[in-house]
Formats: sequence, C-alpha cells, structure tokens
Amino acid sequence: MLNVILFGPPGSGKGTQSENLIAHYQLVHLSTGNILRDEVNRQTPLGVEAKKIMDQGQLVSDEIVIGMIKSKVSENLEAKGFIFDGFPRTVAQAEALDKLMDAMNAPISVLLCLEVPEEELKERLLKRGVIEGRTDDNETTISNRIVEYKNKTQPVADYYQAQGKLKKIQGVGAVDEIFQSLKDAIASL
Ligand code: AP5
Repeated sequence: MLNVILFGPPGSGKGTQSENLIAHYQLVHLSTGNILRDEVNRQTPLGVEAKKIMDQGQLVSDEIVIGMIKSKVSENLEAKGFIFDGFPRTVAQAEALDKLMDAMNAPISVLLCLEVPEEELKERLLKRGVIEGRTDDNETTISNRIVEYKNKTQPVADYYQAQGKLKKIQGVGAVDEIFQSLKDAIASL
C-alpha cells in the first residue's frame, strides 16, 4: 500500500496536489478540512462547533479528527492506499495515525512536505478568499492558521523525520512541475 501524508502550511497546495496524486495512483483522498467543511455545510452539531474553531484559524480537537479518520479508513479497507491531506496536524494525531495504520499492516510510506514562503501563502489564500469565499481565508484568520501550523503542526515533520520518512518538496512554481517533484519523490521510495 502507498500511504502518503501530504503536508505543508495553509495554502501550500495540499488540496491541489492531492487531486493530481489520487488520479495518478488511484488512492483514497482523506482531507480532514474537507470532511469538516462538509459537516459545516450540513449544519450537523459537529459542524456548528467546528465552524467557530475553523473561523478563528485554530485546530479542532485531536479526539474529533482522529475519530473522523478512523471511521473513513475503516470504510476503505480495500483501498490501494491513502493520501492524508491536512492530517496529522499534531504529534498526538500522528501517533494515533501510526497506530491505526500499523494495526492494518499498512504503515505510512512517506511524508511529503510542500515548502512555500509565508508571503506567497498569504497571497494565495487572500486571492482564494475573494474568488471562493472560504470564510477562513481572511487576513486575521490566515495569520492565526499560520501560527497554529508553526506551533502545533511543524513538529509532525520532525516526528516523521525521526522515522526517515520526511521528503521536502519545493512548493513554488507551476502546479505540473510540483506534481512531477512529488511523483519523483514517491518513485524514489
Ligand atoms: P484545511 O482545509 O486542511 O486547510 P489548510 O491546511 O489551511 O489548507 P488549505 O486548504 O488552505 O490549503 P492547501 O495546502 O490545501 O492548498 P490548496 O491546494 O487549497 O483546514 C481548514 C481548517 O480545518 C483548519 O484551520 C482547522 O481549523 C480544521 N482542521 C482541518 N484538519 C484538521 C486537523 N487534522 N486537526 C485539527 N483541525 C483541523 O491551495 C491554496 C490556493 O493556492 C488555491 O487557491 C490554489 O489554487 C492555489 N495554488 C495551489 N498551488 C499553487 C501553485 N503552485 N501556484 C500558485 N497557486 C497555487
């Protein structure tokens, strides 16, 4: 099984490149951001609570997102592999994911980290905020999301580096070129 964590700060291109990767490798795409936004749109009790947290640019509790991932993985036991997009975002989430995947004899293959400078992240997200109207794409929330990333999420890269599974990818440039770098990194596994 090919189990890829697509990692990087808000706006680094995780969603964009996930689409390319799932089409190319026929993997199941698990994006905790998308799952949460679906709950928000359906106005479920979880969605109503999550929206408040997401609009502040903070992280939803580990317990909630780990539960979501466990249930989605168990619905897709026949998958060729998974792309985890926006998850894990804390070391506790990474530990829970490793436990889940190891129990299935399908450990994480690699963490691909998209590297993009902060100025470009802000530019991309502000532009998307105007075009798509995502309520967390405003200046204050974007800054909070980047702070949360630095404080709570970046340690996840160190956690997988210690396992020899971290690969850094230049995330600036044409989408196709970045996709090629991701494929090259996977081919070198
Ligand atoms: P989530 O949906 O995961 O948002 P994010 O990590 O902030 O990521 P984005 O979707 O903003 O960016 P991306 O890296 O996917 O880039 P994209 O391809 O879209 O999470 C949202 C919220 O949900 C969190 O803040 C948190 O509250 C909660 N949450 C989610 N997961 C959680 C978890 N595990 N634990 C706790 N809470 C969780 O690209 C961005 C823009 O750039 C697009 O407009 C795109 O067209 C453009 N773009 C992409 N590539 C390029 C390129 N090469 N050049 C120029 N523009 C580009």
